[in-house]
Amino acid sequence: MIEEDFVPSPYMNEVEEGKVTYRSPSNIALVKYWGKKENQIPANPSISFTLDACATITSVSYKKRVRKTSNFSFDLFFEGSMKEEFKPKIETFFNRIENYLPFLKDYHFTIETANSFPHSSGIASSASGMSALALCLMYLERELSPNITTEFFTKKASFLARLGSGSACRSIEGDLVQWGNHESTEGSSDLYGIKFSNKVHTVFKNYQDTILLVDKGEKQVSSTVGHDLMRNHPFSEQRFAQAHENLTKLKSVFADGNLNEFIKIVESEALTLHAMMMTSLPYFVLMKPNTLQIINKIWAFRKSSKTNLCFTLDAGANVHVLYPEHEKKEVFQFIKNELVVYCQNGQYICDQIGFGAQKIIINKK
Ligand code: PMV
Repeated sequence: MIEEDFVPSPYMNEVEEGKVTYRSPSNIALVKYWGKKENQIPANPSISFTLDACATITSVSYKKRVRKTSNFSFDLFFEGSMKEEFKPKIETFFNRIENYLPFLKDYHFTIETANSFPHSSGIASSASGMSALALCLMYLERELSPNITTEFFTKKASFLARLGSGSACRSIEGDLVQWGNHESTEGSSDLYGIKFSNKVHTVFKNYQDTILLVDKGEKQVSSTVGHDLMRNHPFSEQRFAQAHENLTKLKSVFADGNLNEFIKIVESEALTLHAMMMTSLPYFVLMKPNTLQIINKIWAFRKSSKTNLCFTLDAGANVHVLYPEHEKKEVFQFIKNELVVYCQNGQYICDQIGFGAQKIIINKK
């Protein structure tokens, strides 16, 4: 599909008002997206586990305006309070997607959003937040144009979410989502995420992710800036090629359940992401001393216990500890005994692989 396929033909229905709520999860990349072209087109393909517990719940109430103006009209509430400071992000998002949702200026929207994870936990809410909002808007589009198929609905929601925050396009479905053109994946696209449809070994079906909150502060460098620094990065070409290769390798790992290979690829991807940050100009470091303490502890425990835990990182200091469900008891005991001490205020989140976003209620007036 191409961008133009997401521009709708004139709508068939008239819709005065309504309300919809979606719960959309966060995701954790195994092969990382780092570097982008114009319009949130990724410089390399990526794949992620969709999460379950870490999610955003967003309700959108919509009411037809008496007169359309040249501005968007919306109010934004975050965890019950009006948030003027979040509005520019939504405004930018609306501007980017207006061509694909031409009804946006016809309605006044009340957007109410809340996260399941603690506020300022250092966990990015852009993936879950933007995907939840994209789904609510798609719901309204389907009210206006009821012949939209479920397949198109899902694709377009991912396409729109991508324009809000790249990785958000991987939060619509579960349990594994791939995004970005990849030579050996049929149907892969730079425009939206697709559910990984090859064989997946049962060991990956209920993988665990314990998120260790090492540093809950504001990041010194945003991911937008980080992506941009890949444009003139001395290692960018090799990095982008490596992501393609790692994705190809991971596809066989998913099929045969080879956890040794899984660990090698996932940890290498995490460290490469941070190596890219450390070798950009200007360079920066998002890991903290406790991030490295945790990594070293994980390596030592893996060696001594012969379990299969590994780590991955996103663009921050927090550590995602990934492990198979059948090793949960032993690994979780180790996390509590030896890793939680490195978390800020001892905080961590127990999550696992999830199955995508869900509509919660429809409260039509
Ligand atoms: O979606 P963004 O622009 O916040 O970028 C996300 C980048 C990483 O989390 C570091 C990697 C990824 O693929 O999710």
